[in-house]
Order: sequence, then C-alpha cells, then structure tokens
Amino acid sequence: MAPAAQTRIPSRHVIAFATTSWLALSAVAVPGVATADSVAAGPAAVAQALPSGMIWRLGDMVLQVTALRDDVVRVRVGRNGSLPEDASWAVLPAARRASVAVTGFSTADAVGFSTRALKVAVSRRDGGVTVTDRTGRVLLSDLDGAMVPDRRGDGFTMTKSIPDDAHYFGLGDKFGPLDRLGRSFVMWNTDSYGYQEGQDPLYKDIPFFIGYTKGGYYGMFLDNSWRTSFDFGKTRRGELAIGADGGPVDYYVLAGPDPKDVERAYAWLTGTPAMQPLWTLGFQQSRWGYPTEKDVRAIVARLRHDRIPTDAIWLDIDYQQHYRPFTVDAKTFPAFGKMVSDFTAQGVHTVAITDLHIADLPNAGYAPYDSGMAQDRFVKTADGKPYVAPVWPGPTLFPDFTQAATRAWWGTLYRQFYLQDGISGFWNDMDEPAIFDTPTKTMPLDNRHRIDEPGFAARVASHREIHNLYGMQNHRATYEGLLALKPDERPFVMTRASYAGGQRYGVTWTGDNSSTWNHLRLTIPMLESLGLGGFTFSGADIGGFAGSASANLLTKWIEVAMFTPIARDHSDEQSLPQEPWVGGTAQEDIRRRFIEARYRLLPYLYTVAEEAARTGIPMMRPLFMEFPAGLLDGTPLDLATDSQFMLGRALMVAAPPSPESPGPYSVTLPVGGWYDYWTGKPVTNLKPLSLWGAGGLFMTLKDTGPTAPHTLGITPRLDQLPVFVRAGSIIPRQNLVQSTGETPAGPLQLDVYPGADCQGSLYADDGHSFAFRHGAYSRTALSCTLEADHGVTVTIGRPEGSFQPWWHSYRIVVHGLAHAPRGVAGATYDGAAGSASFVVPANGTAATYRLR
Ligand code: GLC
Repeated sequence: MAPAAQTRIPSRHVIAFATTSWLALSAVAVPGVATADSVAAGPAAVAQALPSGMIWRLGDMVLQVTALRDDVVRVRVGRNGSLPEDASWAVLPAARRASVAVTGFSTADAVGFSTRALKVAVSRRDGGVTVTDRTGRVLLSDLDGAMVPDRRGDGFTMTKSIPDDAHYFGLGDKFGPLDRLGRSFVMWNTDSYGYQEGQDPLYKDIPFFIGYTKGGYYGMFLDNSWRTSFDFGKTRRGELAIGADGGPVDYYVLAGPDPKDVERAYAWLTGTPAMQPLWTLGFQQSRWGYPTEKDVRAIVARLRHDRIPTDAIWLDIDYQQHYRPFTVDAKTFPAFGKMVSDFTAQGVHTVAITDLHIADLPNAGYAPYDSGMAQDRFVKTADGKPYVAPVWPGPTLFPDFTQAATRAWWGTLYRQFYLQDGISGFWNDMDEPAIFDTPTKTMPLDNRHRIDEPGFAARVASHREIHNLYGMQNHRATYEGLLALKPDERPFVMTRASYAGGQRYGVTWTGDNSSTWNHLRLTIPMLESLGLGGFTFSGADIGGFAGSASANLLTKWIEVAMFTPIARDHSDEQSLPQEPWVGGTAQEDIRRRFIEARYRLLPYLYTVAEEAARTGIPMMRPLFMEFPAGLLDGTPLDLATDSQFMLGRALMVAAPPSPESPGPYSVTLPVGGWYDYWTGKPVTNLKPLSLWGAGGLFMTLKDTGPTAPHTLGITPRLDQLPVFVRAGSIIPRQNLVQSTGETPAGPLQLDVYPGADCQGSLYADDGHSFAFRHGAYSRTALSCTLEADHGVTVTIGRPEGSFQPWWHSYRIVVHGLAHAPRGVAGATYDGAAGSASFVVPANGTAATYRLR
C-alpha cells in the first residue's frame, strides 16, 4: 500500500453519507492499511476514504482504488479479506508509490472520489467500478461487480461494458488489424514458428490497450503475468471480458484523452524504452544460417562491394559448437574474434545469438553448465530437481531468471564475447521458453522458480505465474549483464518473448513470420501495436522468415521496412537466400535506393528514436496518435486503413493495403496539407473521403472543406512506396554514408515543408554512450512560418546541450515555392521542384531566415 494511506485522513477527505448497516472493520483488516474513517457503502459493504483513494469491502472481497496521479488510477481487488501482494515486474516502484489527494463523494448508488482528471465511482450494489474522465466520458465500467472469481480455481473474470462507438488498440504483436474490437486474445508466450493470421497466442504478453470512445482515448493496463485473456466483444457484443487463470486483479486506468498523454503515462508506469545505439537504426543483415566464417565474410564483403549501406551482421545458432550457447565452433569459425574485428573495421557490427537454454553437459568442461550447476542457478521441477528438456543443443537446463543472483551470473557469461571478441549486441531467442517435443511447447506449469525481487515476498512460484515473465527476465539479465561489463555503453539486446515493461531492456521482433504478402501487410499493425505497448524498438524479419520470398515481395518488404524502427533482413535455414541482391540487379537497385533513403533520413530517425526513449511516444505511430480528431465524428482514421502509419510527427508511409495486388488504392490524407516525400512537391488532386463511420454510417466528407481528411488515388508500382510529409514540418537529413560509423560529408540538410504549426527538431549525441544523460547531447528546435505575403520564415533555435555534432553548416531546402524567393543571399531556386535552397553556418546560435 502507498505510504500515504498510512497517515490519518484529513476530515475533508472523509466520505460522508447516511449509514445503513455496518461491517465490522476489525473482521476485514487489510494488511498494510491503517484504519481510516469509514462509512457504509451498501447493504453489507463498507467504504474507507483514503487520502488518495478508497477501500471498499463486501464480505471477504476487498477493493482498493487509488489515484497515483490525477490521470492514473490503480484498482486492486483481493479475496479472503486481503489485498494481493503489492509487487510488480512491470510497474516501476516510484509509480506504484505515487499518490495524489482526491475528493470523496457519495450518491444513492455509489461512493467514490475524483481527481482533476478522473472520477471513480464504486457501486453500492456490487462494488462495480466506473471510471469516468473529466468530460463525463465513461472509460471503463464493470457490468458484474469488480470481478467474478473463477469457481474452478484461482482465476477471475472482469466484465466491462463496450460503448457503441468503442475501438481498442494494443496488446502488442497480435495478428490482424490494428483495431481489436470483436476479437479475443490470450496472453501466453508461445513459440509460434510460421504463425498465420488468426493464430493466437504469439510470443509476448503486453496486457495494455488504448481504448477509444466519444472522441477521446484512454489506457488500461492489467498487471497480471498469469495466462490472461481479453475478449473485446467477440463472445458477447457490448462486453469486454478480461480474465486470468490466477494472479492478482491489479489494473491501471490512464485518463488521456490525448493518445500521446496515454503513452506518456504508460511510460511513467512501466518505464521508457531503452535508448538504442545509433548503429541499430542502420540496415542489418541476418540469416539462419551462415554456416561458416567464410560464408559470413562473403556476405559482408558483398554488402560492401554492392554498396548496400549496412551496420550489422547477425550470427544465428550455426556459429556455436553443437548449438551450445556461449561456445564457438572452432572448425567452422576458426578465427572468430578476428572475423568480428575485421567487420568492425568495415563499420559492420556483429550481433550474436545467445539462447537461454544451457546444455546439460556434466563433466565436459562446458563453463555455463559447470558454474550454473555449482551455483544452483536453474529452474526446478515440482519435486525439486533441476528441470531438463530438449531445445537446440539437446537436453538443456533453464536459468532461474527471477532470481537477482541468477541474472548476475548470466551476465558474466557475456564477458568473452562482449569484452574480448568485440561483439556489439546479443539476441535472446526461444525465451518463452520454447521446449521441443512437447505439445505445450513449454515447461510444466508446476515447475518451480525462485523469486527474489523488491516488493515480492521471497518465495517459490510456479511456472504458471512466471511463464509470461520469463523472456522479460532473460532480456533483463542480458541487458544488466552487458551494463555491468561496460557501464557507459548502451546495450543492444533483442528478445523474442517479453512482458509489459520489457521495453526497459531493449528491442524485440515479431518472431517467425512467413515470406508471404499477407505477412508484409500484418507487419504494420503488429509493429504499431508493439509501439503502443512501449516496445517501440521493434522490427519484423524483412522478407519474412518461414518460406522463400519472391523477388518482388522482398523488394516491397525492404521498401516498407526502411520506415520501421528496426530493419533486419532475416530468413529461415529452409528458405532460399534473402539478401538484398537476390533476384538480380534491377531488384537490387530498387532495394539499395530505399536502404539509402533510410541512411539519408538518419538524423530524423534518431531524433524520433530519442523522443520515444525520453517520452514513451512510439516512433511508428497509428494515425490516431498524430490526428486524434479523426473523422468528422471523431472515429479513428486508422479504421479506414491499416497500411498507413506515421513515423514520428512528420512522415506518413502509405503502404498498399493489399501489397500483392497491382490494383489502384486510395490513401487517406488526414486534415492539413501534405507533400510528396520523394519529390518535395505539395500533393494535389485530392478527393473527398468517403467512409463507413462509427455505427455503420456512410459518410462523404465532400462538403467539409480543405481541413477534412481527403484521399489520393495511387497506382502501385514495384519501385515506389508512397510517403508523405505533413505540411508544417522540418525534416533533418544527411548525405549518404555506408554505415552510421562514417561521418557524412557536407552540410546537414533541413527540408522545410511550409504549413500550419510548422515545427521540427534535430537531436544528436555520441550515438553509443550514456553521456547524453549528463548533458552531452545537442537538441535544436526548428520552426517555420508562412507569411501573409506567401513568404516563409525559417527559424533555427539555439542548440541545447553540450554535444558538438558532426555538421558545421545547414543546407536549408524550402519546398512548395511557386516562385524564386528573395531575401536570402545565395539561394538557388529549382523551378521544376518548386524549392529553394541555401547554405548557412551552424555555429551554435539561433538564426532566422526570411524568404520573400
Ligand atoms: C527461432 C527464431 C529464428 C531463428 C531460429 C534459429 O526460430 O525465431 O529467428 O533463426 O530460431 O535460431
């Protein structure tokens, strides 16, 4: 319980209303909660006012609702007269301890309280909780009391009403469209090789969603690691059913109504994503597998020879001796360390897989086994023996990652690779955990894990409780281990399985997708949904993993992926090669052009990445995040299209909705003007948007003028991807490099796209250390104004922070100019492009340029 609850309540917080019957408080003492003023809440219930919320009791059920901030409330429900353990793997201790003062109220039907942003009402009848925002919009409302215990065991169900106009987004990389309405999902981390549409559960458990109703957004996070389920009106229309096999009823409601505020609040609760090294935004090449050192060297040589800008090469399980983690097969990789350093010298970072399963190899000199056994580091069976099961190396053991000492031991296993061999990053795969040759694909539910974690009692927990946390704790162990080895380097670790909050430890990907067109389509809502759940640094295997991509599919996939946060080409050992050159030079030329486009865009990408790591607002954003006003009735724009997304505030990528189809399609252009990213020209030939709106209403927005969403007809072409720039943006770009290690030549380019509320930002730091936390960064605010005389004023702010970036001048390119401008000496005008450019010094001061 929050410390605030232990203080005596000032009288103004006491909920006062006529008493009916009282329940003896002494009979339902709640551990950790001091007695407070109380009143009857119903025929047999009692409510206690707390400074930051209230406790409500009915029989042996206890409900506690507290306000952590004005816009975040936490709801906990306990049985047997007590509340669940106040502990979390996801929510940061400071957030759980936070509180704000609330104002209590009482009506004939409910007791409750309000904050500046939210109102919580608990029904006198059954304890059902209704959370309303300050405009009176009902966010979540229980239909059957605070929860219904599962008669079969320790589980429960909560049923909440679904308003007529509701839509739901989130839950991480689930299949299907972005909107979760009308579907149901299970959270149970599962190895899902070659998964297909409709398959669920997949690899991660991120029990957080953003709800939409009546023009506003809010968030709901269920902090329960057991097998849980979310049914968004699939089984019963109008009912949102949230269930769990066990574990606590412990959830948070985040007020909104701006979706960016929901994301900021979620990051405040569960942590911001770990800031990634700059090189991880470059192009990355991988495959299972490159069987020998010679093969890997040939791939890197070809990437450089073909001038495919690249920052990383990945080593899958083949480099290991008999697939044993932390070994190298000296026969196939005879000069491993030399190979890594040769790649480093060419600006290519090496990432190596280090799966969690440790081969069961007594007396073989296998150090991870020997030290792990000696220190008792492995998960046990119900009868207390180390649990052994088959994965890649054959019989293996599983580190008990919920113990701090086990994580510390695991971290030491990286010493040779990280400190001696110079490997830059690591890949934690199979950490659901995946087990071969068993129908459940994972370990027995009664396996025993030892918990040693602040907030939790030191205890033994069943696999049922730990399963969905296991990958996250593996990821954490690696992240913290690398930090211990190199305290001032940002670790790069990619995991397959995780739980809410796992974004604090780095990167994830969408697992074993397929080399099919529909998987390219699925990639977009999956990555957007991961971003909504904190995992902004995410990617999907480019070209698809299972099966062989056609040349056209690989090309289109590369085009789209160059605008997603993590861009890694990866494929299955069964599939045909999938490197950027397969299929001939015509295809390779298109792919190279898009990879080059990404490298030119790196200053913008890095600025957006830093914003995500600082605020929690994802890099890749659904349209509703930038344009929450939506359609005329507020309906989210994304319902019209699942294939369009924003990259940061300024760029909108409009991938084809059916990428396999050569037929034309239309792009939804949200309110405001747009420019074509590739030509820099304003977009014309717009048509009014016709749409099925909420409730099946057909709307044609033709009479709403230029501020309503419009559409643009597109005829798809293999060598093109429509990308648009929001009018009122400034995008930093750079000259082409072959890797992020190379310093770009010439000025940093600022592309100015005049329009309303014109703004931009430019961020840089050393790209790899934590010095930015101590002021060694450079952040420059950019803005522009469209003058009444059609002139444009561009303002570059004074850089904030002590870091000296690589550029010494800016090339300012102003787009959308119908005539050659005056006012800036040396400006050149390109009549065909409608743009003017000029070079100015970047000397650390603010400057304003006025084009007339
Ligand atoms: C799993 C991973 C895949 C990897 C393979 C071999 O299937 O998801 O990416 O290539 O294992 O390590």
